[in-house]
Amino acid sequence: MVMSMPEHVIITIDGPAGTGKSTTARLLASRLELEFLDTGAMYRAAAVVALDRGVDFGDGPGVARAVHQAMLRFDWAADPPRLLITSPHERDITERLRDADITLGSSIVARSPEVRAVLVEQQRHIAQAHPRLVSEGRDQGSVVFPDAAVKFFLDASPEARAQRRADQLRSAGQEVDEARLLREIIERDAADRNRETGPLIIPDDAIVVDTTHLSHDQVLAQLEQQVRQRLGSLNRGVGG
Ligand code: DC
Repeated sequence: MVMSMPEHVIITIDGPAGTGKSTTARLLASRLELEFLDTGAMYRAAAVVALDRGVDFGDGPGVARAVHQAMLRFDWAADPPRLLITSPHERDITERLRDADITLGSSIVARSPEVRAVLVEQQRHIAQAHPRLVSEGRDQGSVVFPDAAVKFFLDASPEARAQRRADQLRSAGQEVDEARLLREIIERDAADRNRETGPLIIPDDAIVVDTTHLSHDQVLAQLEQQVRQRLGSLNRGVGG
């Protein structure tokens, strides 16, 4: 179906880790010729900045200040965009973001209201400069872009998510303790859902997709169809 996207369109994809959210968001953006914002990468970058500057992950105001000073910047010429710290000198930190210490650090800094406030503001700022966006995270439809044109919430059973994570780690040559992975996923879900600022919730107007028994291709096809349907009816509503 041929349909051009409007000049301003924000699509949000939220949900817990291990639902295939990042891959789906990136592929959906590319199918629809939109840009892709990985907000998890920003929380990971906050952990890198904290570690670099010797700020404790648990010191929310300190991390928020350090993030503000580090002046994060995405390089939008790359696909997917790379993430850089620009102060005191420019440094590409993309490769560092997936390391285990940073994964842990990001989940701690993400609990801080001060850190969230800095990053939410930056995300809205990015959307002004890049108004055709698929934005992926935990709070994109609920907090950051409540007026998004289409909101998705991807979910999957904890067991399926642990299994996917185990497959990823094994294919990276790492040893895996599946029972421990499952425990960690359940704990992290509870922490994400219960935090006071920007908790992981399903926005009222979100389309919930359970990816437990679906392949990436099936999830992508479902999301693309929903976006085209919704934006198509919006376009017609505007008199087209
Ligand atoms: O999606 P991810 O694993 O790259 O996210 C890294 C951490 O940041 C994870 O602990 C969840 C948190 N996060 C968040 O709190 N809000 C977002 N919008 C994105 C990520």
